[in-house]
Parts: sequence; C-alpha cells; structure tokens
Amino acid sequence: MFRHRARFSLLLCLVLAILLTANQTRSGSEKGSERPVKETIKGEIVRNETHVEPVPVESSLAKNADDDDDGDDDDDDDAVPRHLPDDGDTKILTTPKSVVAPDADPSVKTILIWTSFDRAKMWWYGFRHEFGHEVFRRHNCTHTNCNLIYDRSKLNEADFLMFYHEDPPEWPKIRYTWQSYIHIIKERPGPWHRWLKDYEPRINITMNYRYDSDIRFFNNGFHKRRNPLRNPYTAKWSLSRKGKSVVGMISHCGADSKRDDYVAELSKHIDVDIYGSCGTMECPRGRDGTKQCMDRFQKQYKFYLSFENAFCKDYVTEKLYRTLSYELVPIVLGAANYSRDAPPHSVIDVRDFDSPKALAGYLKHLSRNEDEYNSYFAWKQWYVLFNDQDCYCTVCDALNEPAVANKKAGGYYDWWFSGCDNDVIDRMKEKGGWL
Ligand SMILES: *[C@@H]1O[C@H](CO)[C@@H](O)[C@H](O)[C@H]1NC(C)=O
Ligand SMILES: *[C@@H]1O[C@H](CO)[C@@H](O)[C@H](O)[C@H]1NC(C)=O
Ligand SMILES: *[C@@H]1O[C@H](CO)[C@@H](O)[C@H](O)[C@H]1NC(C)=O
Ligand SMILES: *[C@@H]1O[C@H](CO)[C@@H](O)[C@H](O)[C@H]1NC(C)=O
Repeated sequence: MFRHRARFSLLLCLVLAILLTANQTRSGSEKGSERPVKETIKGEIVRNETHVEPVPVESSLAKNADDDDDGDDDDDDDAVPRHLPDDGDTKILTTPKSVVAPDADPSVKTILIWTSFDRAKMWWYGFRHEFGHEVFRRHNCTHTNCNLIYDRSKLNEADFLMFYHEDPPEWPKIRYTWQSYIHIIKERPGPWHRWLKDYEPRINITMNYRYDSDIRFFNNGFHKRRNPLRNPYTAKWSLSRKGKSVVGMISHCGADSKRDDYVAELSKHIDVDIYGSCGTMECPRGRDGTKQCMDRFQKQYKFYLSFENAFCKDYVTEKLYRTLSYELVPIVLGAANYSRDAPPHSVIDVRDFDSPKALAGYLKHLSRNEDEYNSYFAWKQWYVLFNDQDCYCTVCDALNEPAVANKKAGGYYDWWFSGCDNDVIDRMKEKGGWL
C-alpha cells in the first residue's frame, strides 16, 4: 500500500512538473516586447502543451508539493520527492535522476537552454542553432558526451540548465539537486546588474569573459597562423599619406571608465577626431556605416582610440579586435592584460604613459618614424584574428571537469562586482596634475 502510494506520488509529481514548466513557458511569451525571441524559435520547439492531463487537486502530490512539512513518513522511500527549503518559487527535490528520467543515458550530459534564443542571439552567444547529441561530434570536440536541447518539457532529463544575461527569468518551478545552473553573460558588470542577486543562490557555473569564470566565454581573439606569411607584412597604406593623427568612435558619453576625460586632455596635445554622439562627426548608421568609416580611417589616420567603457578585469571588446583588422594602431584603455589578449606589439596602452601629454609625445614620435610605426603591424605575418569562438566544445569540455560540473552555487554576486576599478583615470589625473 505504502509502495503503491509512493509510486503514485511520483507519477503525479512528474505530471505537475510538466504542467508547471508548460505554464511557465506560456507566461513567458506574454511578456511580448521584452522577449521577441520566443516567436522566432517557437515553431522549432518540440512541445505538446495541449495534451497534459489535469492534476487532481485532492491528491497526495498536492500535499507533497504545497506543504513544507507534511509530517508524512514516506521519507524512507527514495522514490518520494523530499523537500529542501524552497529557493524562491523553485521547489528543490532530491529525487535521483535514475528515478525522474529512467530512460536517460547516464553517460550523456544533457544541457537544456532555458532562456530562449533566436538565431542572432545564438550566434552572439557562441552557438549556431544546432542542437542534439551529434552536434558535438560534428564540431570535433574532445568530449562528445553532451546533448544540447531547448525543450523545456524535458526539464527532468536536464543535467544542466543554461540561462543567459537578462532580468531574472522565470525560474523553473522544480529543481533537482543533481542539476546545475549555468549563467552566460557577455556584458561587463554594471550597476544595472542588481538582479544578479536573484541568480546568486542558484547559479553553479559562471560563463563569461573573465579568465577565472568556470567556462571562459569570448568571441574574439587571435591565434598563430598555421602557415605564416612568407614575407614580412607590408603596410598597404603608407604613413606619409595619412594626413591625420588620432580618431575614435564614441557614442556612449560619460562612460564609467572616464575615457571622455582622457580624450579631452589628449586632444590638448595632439589632434583627435571623435565620431559618434560624443564627438562632432558622424559615421553612416549601422554595421555598414562603421565599416565604411573604418575603411576610410585607415587611409587617413594613424591611431585609433579603442577605449573600453569600463576598467574591468579581462574585459576587452571588439573595439580592439575590429581595429586590429585594419591598418590602424589601437590605443587601448581598459583593464585587460593586453600582452595576453592582443597580438605581440600590436597596441599602445594608455596605462604605460604617465599622462595624455606623454602619450601624445610618443604618438608624434611614431608619426615621424615609418619603420617604427609599421612595426605595430608586423604581427600580421604570424598571427590571425578570429571572431567565432565555438562554444559547443568549450562547454562540453568544461562540463566534463568534475570541479565545474559539481560546483555548488554561491558567491557569484560579489565575485562579479569585484572585477572593476574605474578610478584608474582619476589616479592618473591626480598623479599627473591634470585634474
Ligand atoms: C498532442 O498530443 C495529442 C495526443 O497525443 C495529439 O493528438 C495531438 O495531435 C498533439 N498535438 C501536436 C501539436 O503535436
Ligand atoms: C571536423 O573534422 C572534419 C574532418 O577533419 C572536417 O572536415 C570538419 O570540417 C571539422 N568540423 C569542424 C566544425 O571543424
Ligand atoms: C599578462 O599576460 C602575460 C602573457 O600571458 C603574462 O606573462 C603576465 O604575467 C600577465 N600579467 C599580469 C599582470 O597578469
Ligand atoms: C548546484 O548548486 C545547488 C545550490 O548550492 C546545489 O543544490 C546543487 O546540488 C548544485 N548542483 C550540483 C550538480 O552539484
């Protein structure tokens, strides 16, 4: 009788799990404008929400799910979900996976993308809108024992759930203790990330640009050419024909890094042209506009201001990598380790100069010495840039490391916000007396 009841509870529990997940998915699409993604992806999701049996209200399950302490003596039976303290709206259950998803292959790590992605976002986040088990083999990953799915009704099979940067999502209503939550974020920390408090107690695995995140995630980089160019790289645009000095595109004024102050001081000592809303000149709008401008800049200008909007540990964006793909020497402002994150001798770091005036002096010196100036492009013989990290292998390889796969949640918030130091320019001002 006891056993029978236990099994009945479990069955109902599964039905409830499916119901709750389905319900959640529905309320998600109601947010409309905030999540246009849903519609795009919907047609491809294998989901049958129409055919879920209603759960009888007067059942042992209802009791199980709603009472924290129902005083029942089912505890000795593994098949009966036991309750841990609630995690907000999420019910935490200890029921083993072998019971919850008896058909699942235990050697396969199933990753459920909980936050919906459209194609563009998938790409932005390093995936290519390919799902399933085979995709890891197709990508020639070292580990191929992963399965990527985005069907929320398969919550019970998922070892890992993936959330990406956004205000707190609708958390799954049920969480098994053998599940791990992964959070992906591309941004650097900002005060608008206070919602991370909600993620903090839930997220086991961090995935972002920081080298000390659990899964390092980046889009841009460089690597050694398999076949280096036969001859030293020769500049296509000669220095003598570049009539202008320094250019930058800045559209977010008053950024945390205080780059505007640096630009203002620098332009007292050398000509600086700023495009975008923080300057006086405009590029045509959109990606194409930027490209048109960059094409023109490399013929006219010697240096480009690749100034990040914040000094955050390891944070470096396409502002650098885009510039490197042209014949412009990037002047970098940021907290990345550029000896590691940029090709050798490819950038000029403002932190290497006591003041904007000292930097301007060096730029003028380079402007008069073609060989020295061109030495900033010599790396192009040996290295090549890439902008398409393959996240499939990165993720599957990382999840095969026990230290990552079994990580407990906690500490995310403080760790995340400890990464930035935006007083660099203020200290420089104080030291150099250009306040
Ligand atoms: C949902 O499942 C029911 C019962 O299995 C089936 O009759 C119906 O066609 C399915 N709907 C869709 C959209 O697959
Ligand atoms: C995987 O390896 C095969 C054989 O070497 C190759 O043809 C294919 O392009 C590789 N796939 C990827 C995504 O690198
Ligand atoms: C920066 O990276 C280089 C090359 O990887 C390394 O040798 C150096 O120790 C790093 N510097 C800091 C401050 O981490
Ligand atoms: C992830 O963290 C939560 C909260 O600390 C924990 O209950 C869960 O067991 C962890 N997942 C794994 C696979 O260890």
